[in-house]
Amino acid sequence: MADVKKIAVIAGDGIGPEVVAEAIKVMKKTEELFGLSFEFEHGLFGGIAIDEEGTPLPQATLDICQRADAVLLGAVGGPKWDNNSKELRPETGLLGIRKALGLFSNIRPANVFDCLKEASTLKPEVLEGTDLIVVRELTGGIYFGEKFRREGANGEEAVDTCVYNVAEVERIVRQAFEIAQKRSKRLASVDKANVLETSRLWREVVNRIAPEYPDVELEHVLVDNCAMQLLRRPSSFDVIVTENMFGDILSDEAAMLTGSIGMLSSASLGEGSFGLYEPVHGSAPDIAGQGISNPIATILSVALMYRLTFGYDEAAQAIEDAVKEVLDAGHRTGDIAVDKSKAIGTVAMGDLIVSALKKA
Ligand code: NAI
Ligand code: MG
Repeated sequence: MADVKKIAVIAGDGIGPEVVAEAIKVMKKTEELFGLSFEFEHGLFGGIAIDEEGTPLPQATLDICQRADAVLLGAVGGPKWDNNSKELRPETGLLGIRKALGLFSNIRPANVFDCLKEASTLKPEVLEGTDLIVVRELTGGIYFGEKFRREGANGEEAVDTCVYNVAEVERIVRQAFEIAQKRSKRLASVDKANVLETSRLWREVVNRIAPEYPDVELEHVLVDNCAMQLLRRPSSFDVIVTENMFGDILSDEAAMLTGSIGMLSSASLGEGSFGLYEPVHGSAPDIAGQGISNPIATILSVALMYRLTFGYDEAAQAIEDAVKEVLDAGHRTGDIAVDKSKAIGTVAMGDLIVSALKKA
């Protein structure tokens, strides 16, 4: 029996609780199959926390997360809270939790399930074999730099500044090298070193660290070229590491290779093995409460948790294989179904994946 791992569960709003419930079912089945052991502690987060506690991120929830080994998050937000003041918006809780937990990177896999290739806008032969991860820096760069307006010689001007320090680049680049080591040992560092000073620093740091990972094949790719290559030959990438804004754009581009937002998992990591795992999608208020949401993004986030936080690679693979098996058998939730009349619901999809789980 493995030691007990503490999981903080913050399901949030809208479809969050529905998809998280299916992910927990999958985790419980892997406990049986692989001798794992989890202790789940639930916390209020987002809109529901605003309604019940008057804040999107109650201290009690933060405490639960801080004593956990990993966090499983559903999604937050909805029209009910859209007109609230900034402190009383669910999304403020998201920024707050990342900061409080020291999460500085966002990991987004994009892998194409063969049987869903028809759902993508790209040609199947272009998508063949696509299985990549975008590692995005989350705490620095132009999104967090000083910003202001001023009166210039030709009227009003706006200024955004982009700042990166060596330590910020080092920690994310090391993390990306380590992830690449566990995969196919190829790392693409994406920058704009032909024009940006922050990118030149970024590239210097990457080159300085690279010799520590001699088994990883490194290439530098300019961001504009990377955007093109993602559409032309996505399968040539394995791990992509990049700064905040480039990562925001490239991870959304990479996500669309796979077709549906209901399939996309993510992780946010800090120092050490702790991580927060969540589907890329939001709370989908348009379909919340109908039992038709796709739980696969959240279930695949669990597989990511098993690999990145716990090193439970065998159980992670079993989850990914079970998802593939269920999709290959033709089962679809509405978002990925070609024939919507045959679509199955959230719980049915979760049950099928649980039944398909097995030890290799
Ligand atoms: P969304 O991702 O919630 O929904 C976009 C579209 O995709 C909708 O038509 C929805 O029905 C569909 N969709 C999303 N997930 C699905 C799933 N698992 N299965 C089937 N269909 C799915 O994005 P939207 O509509 O822009 O935002 C809704 C709310 O979610 C907003 O309040 C927004 O702020 C919040 N949000 C929260 C995020 C988070 O918690 N990390 C991330 C993105 C948005
Ligand atoms: Mg984005």
